[in-house]
Amino acid sequence: MTSATTAVRVRGVAKSFGGTRILDNIDVEIAAGTVHALVGENGAGKSSLGKIIGGYYTPDEGQVEILGRAVARFSPRDALQLGVAMIHQELQLAPELSVVQNVFLGRESARAGILVKGDMARFEALEKTCDFGISPLARVATLRIAERQKVEIMRAIARDAQVIIMDEPTSSLTEDEADRLHEVVKRLKSQGKTIIYVSHFLDHILANCDNVTIMRDGRVVRTSPIAGETKKSLVDSMLGQEAEILYPALPAAPAGDVRPVAELRNVSTDAGLSDISLSVRPGEIVGLIGLVGSGRTEVARAMFGADRITGGEYLIEGRRSEQRLSVRRAIASGVALVPEDRRKQGLVLTQPTRFNVSLGTLGAISRFGILGTSAEVRRTREMIKHFGIVPAAVDGRVARYSGGNQQKVLLSKWAVAKPRLLILDEPSRGVDVGARRRIHDFIVDMARQGVGVLLISSEIEEVINLSHRCYLLSDGRIFAEEPASSLTVESALHRVFLEQNSHRNRQEGAAP
Ligand SMILES: Nc1ncnc2c1ncn2[C@@H]1O[C@H](COP(=O)(O)OP(=O)(O)OP(=O)(O)O)[C@@H](O)[C@H]1O
Ligand SMILES: [Mg+2]
Repeated sequence: MTSATTAVRVRGVAKSFGGTRILDNIDVEIAAGTVHALVGENGAGKSSLGKIIGGYYTPDEGQVEILGRAVARFSPRDALQLGVAMIHQELQLAPELSVVQNVFLGRESARAGILVKGDMARFEALEKTCDFGISPLARVATLRIAERQKVEIMRAIARDAQVIIMDEPTSSLTEDEADRLHEVVKRLKSQGKTIIYVSHFLDHILANCDNVTIMRDGRVVRTSPIAGETKKSLVDSMLGQEAEILYPALPAAPAGDVRPVAELRNVSTDAGLSDISLSVRPGEIVGLIGLVGSGRTEVARAMFGADRITGGEYLIEGRRSEQRLSVRRAIASGVALVPEDRRKQGLVLTQPTRFNVSLGTLGAISRFGILGTSAEVRRTREMIKHFGIVPAAVDGRVARYSGGNQQKVLLSKWAVAKPRLLILDEPSRGVDVGARRRIHDFIVDMARQGVGVLLISSEIEEVINLSHRCYLLSDGRIFAEEPASSLTVESALHRVFLEQNSHRNRQEGAAP
């Protein structure tokens, strides 16, 4: 790379945790004013390298140079002073504070979340740049994960950083929102800023980055201009072998008259769903397609007993529950949910891998009230092997696992439990191509064993290829049902956009 100035230079950097070398002899040069991608499998070391550049981890060996200045031990605060900000993969916001407080948190003007005059105006200016449409006064705890991700992005921009590390910035955004983020990235670049962009979405990388560094097992495979790369060349280098990106074959769909494992009849909820009717039969994979905010996650929550059903009927195995459905009762009836926000809802981060894997089945494994430790260990070993969980330690500390490996642990929990209805909300978010394929195989395998699967994903391609049947949602309602084979990504996207627009127009027409 022959750019006039180098924004970040990493030389001979190594880092170990507990005797395991997670970064080894890393050399990377990032030219100022470019968008530089980091790609690699789960656990390759992308986030760790980002944290070294952002001052969160201190290298054991080697040097880091930021905007021409060599830095040795430096904290995130020092990094910020030097002009480096990091947007973390696992979001780090203060949930009890408002959006605007979070955006300016840690800056001189807003110590401890106290706003000063001008912050509101500054927020509005920022919102003009980003066009994310987030209300400044909303409490972050009430925001959906996609919105929280946007708040993190705004915060990094608000800090006026010269170098912004974005770790999986689009992992919970829709294509539309991702496009908008990429516009922001372009604008930042045109202002001379440098973006380090970590992602598993290779299409996004090919379309928006200038250069790419491919990592594998804590080392740099190569750094090259994106112009010479293809999806296949990236994947092959990430895996160190030739790979094919395909979806597994689905088992045959169950007959239409088989009794559903779960059925919603004209259901409304206090979370904004109205008149939802859908069914999932044993062995069937049913997809939900809709934009963010269309109610996909709310359907999952209602079926898991997390949101209150205010009208209509919910039948599990043909039975209507007598009492109000709670999460506990849903689980007891065989309903499982892999939530989109794994850190908050899915994992017990203070506990080791084996605890998390057996969480869904404590009843099955424990006898006489004592955990059957050997059974637990055996199952955990199986799952580690099955999903390729790294580190492959039964007693591994889940809190420190890379994002993709946490997701695998979460899935293991339900693979062991074998529910009747498995609801998956963004199951392959943030996982690499290899793990993604394993997760797809897992979904198909569950269906083959007779589990009914409800699949939610922002990636329409994934839903269409892995489902038998799909429901299309917009504004909390289902407006169409189709066999997956009759849909294409373009046709489905077109229809959800069209529906959303016509809904908005109807609403505007109805307003006084
Ligand atoms: N603080 C830590 N303590 C112990 N191990 C760590 C720590 N941080 C990272 N690791 C380990 O370093 C390795 C690289 O993790 P890292 O998070 O950098 O991967 P990644 O490439 O970002 O993966 P993903 O795509 O899943 O996010 C993993 O094996 C992880 O468990
Ligand atoms: Mg990571």
